[in-house]
Amino acid sequence: SAAYYNEPYRPQFHFTPEAHWMNDPNGLVYLNGKYHLFYQYYPEGTVWGPMHWGHAESTDLLHWKHLPIALYPDKLGMIFSGSAVIDKENTAGFGKNAMVAIFTYHDDEIWKAGKKNTESQGLAYSVDEGKTWTKHNGNPVLNNSGEQDFRDPKVFWNETISKWNMVLAVGDKIKIFSSANLKEWQFESDFKPDDDVQNLGVWECPDLFPMKVKGSAETKWVMIVNHGDKAPNGGSGTRYFIGNFDGKKFINSQKSLWMDSGTDFYAAVTFSNVPNDKKILLGWMSNWLYATKVPTEVWRSAMTLPRELELTTNGYFYFLNQKMIPQFSSLLSPVFESKEVKTPFEKEALNLSQAQITFETNGVSDAIISLSNNNGEVFTITLSGGNLVTDRSNSGKIDFNENFANKPQVMPLAGDKITNVQLILDKSSIEILLNNGKYSMTNLFFPNEDYSVLSIITNENKPIQNLKISSVKRIW
Ligand code: FRU
Repeated sequence: SAAYYNEPYRPQFHFTPEAHWMNDPNGLVYLNGKYHLFYQYYPEGTVWGPMHWGHAESTDLLHWKHLPIALYPDKLGMIFSGSAVIDKENTAGFGKNAMVAIFTYHDDEIWKAGKKNTESQGLAYSVDEGKTWTKHNGNPVLNNSGEQDFRDPKVFWNETISKWNMVLAVGDKIKIFSSANLKEWQFESDFKPDDDVQNLGVWECPDLFPMKVKGSAETKWVMIVNHGDKAPNGGSGTRYFIGNFDGKKFINSQKSLWMDSGTDFYAAVTFSNVPNDKKILLGWMSNWLYATKVPTEVWRSAMTLPRELELTTNGYFYFLNQKMIPQFSSLLSPVFESKEVKTPFEKEALNLSQAQITFETNGVSDAIISLSNNNGEVFTITLSGGNLVTDRSNSGKIDFNENFANKPQVMPLAGDKITNVQLILDKSSIEILLNNGKYSMTNLFFPNEDYSVLSIITNENKPIQNLKISSVKRIW
């Protein structure tokens, strides 16, 4: 309804909780025609607090129905991030096709006492498609080995070993385990390449899954690792490794790449049990540097749009491309279209608060795209020197936190010419995808008035092709 979801900066087609604090997506799983989204949730405030799992479901990954909280803290601790699986063969004995959540218990009392060993892994299950949940009476199922930061289990059935695997973030590495029944876990190996990037923040929210390489019979494994701090543009960020996995050890065959170079893409993981083995990823659209300070009331934080992953290769290197799910186009209505547009181009009186802008560039090397309003506030995207740079220093409200707009954000383009640009704007966020999703940059902004002017300048006034501006329907 109209009075609903209309607060300033409230995303209109991204997932947000009705009220209160949200961070990571959790337990992403598909079952019987419905996608389930659980999420880190604090139902009593708009800042982080004792964590629960909030819950929503969707048949199309766009329109979400809010459901009651799935998991509450208990005497073993708060419910931190984790995953969910469908136990088709009833390996755990909770029931055939039970939905099983594997999550981290975080015991804050131990933490406050200044001791380690605060985190362990627990199970909960639902035999009614996620409506009601029962905690396993043998929790925790995986105890801390003495290390602080022992969390965010992502579990999957591995056909090659006919067992479950778990990847777990432990300090500055990933630990891999296996299990026949989800209850007893055996340690297999640590993953931390010798030549890895140094001094990244704490490792969190891993994911591991096989993917077919596009246009070939080859299968590679993708390992996603999130880092709470020290991503290239500051604060939280997500990277991925490509490699091989035999159920015991993951060996990367190339150095990691950042999945998104913006400051507002974090804790990204994929849905399990999706038909046709599609890999659909959802991230939290914020950053631990300032997440609790962003100028929204009522609720805090949104998820990214769901993105379908595709693994490609140029023969030397593998890349994970991200595409907005195809059904996203059902929310679009054309506003402006032109086959060829001379630059400098400027168009005013647009509603850019809920919009998609796409165009092709014929490989220009220098360009400035700006989104602005009548207040003189502007968000700029500059292509120059082989980088894409976003600047939100004059984008609107910025002084709620010193880290929000203190420097431009740089995305290196690895020598690629930019051929196509997709910009998706929803009230207080922009998702930028370049070259069919090979490059991704996600940013928040908080203008005092919606952006309404689009301007595009290219080097030597080169024209751009197939410019399309569409409005995007709200989902609530
Ligand atoms: C990532 C994270 C996880 C943890 C959760 C707590 O954003 O720090 O590692 O499980 O958030 O809310």
